[in-house]
Amino acid sequence: MTVEQIRVSSQWLDLREGADAAARDRELVGHLCRRLPAGGLWVIHDLACGSGSMARWLAPLLPGPQLWVMHDRDPDLLEVAAATPPGPAADGAPVVVATRLSDITQLRPDDLAGASLITASALLDLITSDQLAGPVGLCSAVGWPVLLPLSVVGRVELAPADPLDRSVAGAFDAHQRRMTAGGRLLGPDAVAAAAERFRMMGHRVLVRPSPWRLGPADADLAAEWLTGWLDAACKQVAELAAGVHAYAGRRLAQARAGQLAVTVDHADLLVLS
Ligand SMILES: C[S@@+](CC[C@H](N)C(=O)[O-])C[C@H]1O[C@@H](n2cnc3c(N)ncnc32)[C@H](O)[C@@H]1O
Repeated sequence: MTVEQIRVSSQWLDLREGADAAARDRELVGHLCRRLPAGGLWVIHDLACGSGSMARWLAPLLPGPQLWVMHDRDPDLLEVAAATPPGPAADGAPVVVATRLSDITQLRPDDLAGASLITASALLDLITSDQLAGPVGLCSAVGWPVLLPLSVVGRVELAPADPLDRSVAGAFDAHQRRMTAGGRLLGPDAVAAAAERFRMMGHRVLVRPSPWRLGPADADLAAEWLTGWLDAACKQVAELAAGVHAYAGRRLAQARAGQLAVTVDHADLLVLS
């Protein structure tokens, strides 16, 4: 049986990079800076790094020299991550990037040797509870801080509202929690599941909201997000597909014209030992 692999395009990651950067919680970065060892090189492993947007956001907020080790199973995204490294650290210190083709659910302690910090952005909702267990156990055993931003929590708000919004949102959430050959995806339950696992292992877990708030300036992203949201909902609930034709046309026109305000709630987790 093959496990479903969700492929993410670099175009989509590029389109959402600004909204992701605006959404990630900066107060958690303050907590993080107080926990990281002073001086020396910080080695940061970014799991499921995609095209490297997390490093481009976080590296310039952290002081001191940094080595970012970027892990992903998609070689094309790793190539983009290597070609578009972050700027210098907050104090101007150099930031260097290395890439590793890896399945982050199969990592061993040696793969993360020497780490000062582990990050994984916009990943948790895409994996199953079993797939979460390995990385959580690994991080817990060694006790590095772990920063896990941008997991969806299953709340979406569109303004102006439409009576069909709720049905589409429900079908989309069910699609996110769908059963795959590798098990049921965590989807909107990811934050609670990860926080519970880390807390049971004795860690302190801070959770902060990190919503996307898309307005007229984000029309392209809103339209692309809406297309994916509707596609997933209709895939999950076949009866919905026939009923949402007019709705889809109306909502897409509003999104493209910058007349649809979209809030997609996410949460960020910081795990401390
Ligand atoms: C939504 S993207 C997020 C990318 C990046 N972290 C960001 O914030 O822009 C999810 C990423 O997870 C990667 N991914 C998913 N499952 C993975 C696995 N088991 N091992 C390695 N990478 C994985 C995908 O290839 C994709 O790059």
